[in-house]
Amino acid sequence: MSIALTTFPLPPRALALLADVAEVRGPDGWRDALGEADALLCLLTDRVDAALLDAAPRLKVVACATAGFEHVDVAECRARGIAVTHAPGVLAEATADLTWALLLATVRRLPQAERDLRAGSFHGWGFWDYLGGDLQGAALGIFGMGRIGRAVAKRAAAFGMRIAYHSRTRLPTDEERALGMSWTDRAGLLAASDVLTLHAPLTAQTRHFLDADAFARMRRGSYLINTARGALVDEASLVDALRSGHLAGAGLDVYEHEPALHPGLLELENVVLLPHIGSATLETRTRMATLAAANAAAVLRGEPPPNPVP
Ligand code: DGY
Repeated sequence: MSIALTTFPLPPRALALLADVAEVRGPDGWRDALGEADALLCLLTDRVDAALLDAAPRLKVVACATAGFEHVDVAECRARGIAVTHAPGVLAEATADLTWALLLATVRRLPQAERDLRAGSFHGWGFWDYLGGDLQGAALGIFGMGRIGRAVAKRAAAFGMRIAYHSRTRLPTDEERALGMSWTDRAGLLAASDVLTLHAPLTAQTRHFLDADAFARMRRGSYLINTARGALVDEASLVDALRSGHLAGAGLDVYEHEPALHPGLLELENVVLLPHIGSATLETRTRMATLAAANAAAVLRGEPPPNPVP
């Protein structure tokens, strides 16, 4: 029987999918078992590079339980005939929910207000205290219009926001109309957004989509929300834009050099910082793990996996 090695605990649904094709090992001591592994189920935090692959000569598939797969050297896997799969789609709704939670928390300054209350600074209702921004009638800019971008756009109508988006591929007109939004180029997106939210994958083209020049082109008093990938943003320039007051605030779930944060971010009151929890619901994480198991099982059975990386 094949060996499926996992770097993280698998839920029963995922284990059931592997049961008739593989013996599951790990997560304890998984690195020591690489030599016997036919499949590896892994996470964003597991670097799959040439050195790891050298230790795993039997490997047929690297099945990521995440949508992102930048932790895997895909070219190196392909050169060795190893399939690489990921878990797209199933986390779109949970990530869109978290995006809106973070957006609201940032624009209405919730963490700052709560921190102050806990510190004993609530001495009665303050007419001019903790003033945030209005969403009704404001412009939401969305960069990246994949499944998560669309799920975010769907929710914007409830807050009365106008939507402009920029992405490599433009949606069909009827879908744009249904979501009440229009495509714009990068310059138009930066200039139009009261709140800009990022949902594009990290590629050589999208790295530092927001740099010092881009922040200068954003509206004074606008907000940035990032639940996609930290390196879409030049974090040092973001800190400058927040310090100068050009940006009113930022809500971040991801960081350029994760898990490290630019030290300037921690000093700023107008930033809401989360530890990469966009997809962190029990059902969503179960679906992600189950998809990884389904992909690994397919390859071990000699079938094409449902979700090869593009
Ligand atoms: C992913 O799957 O790529 C996410 O960043 C984890 O939620």
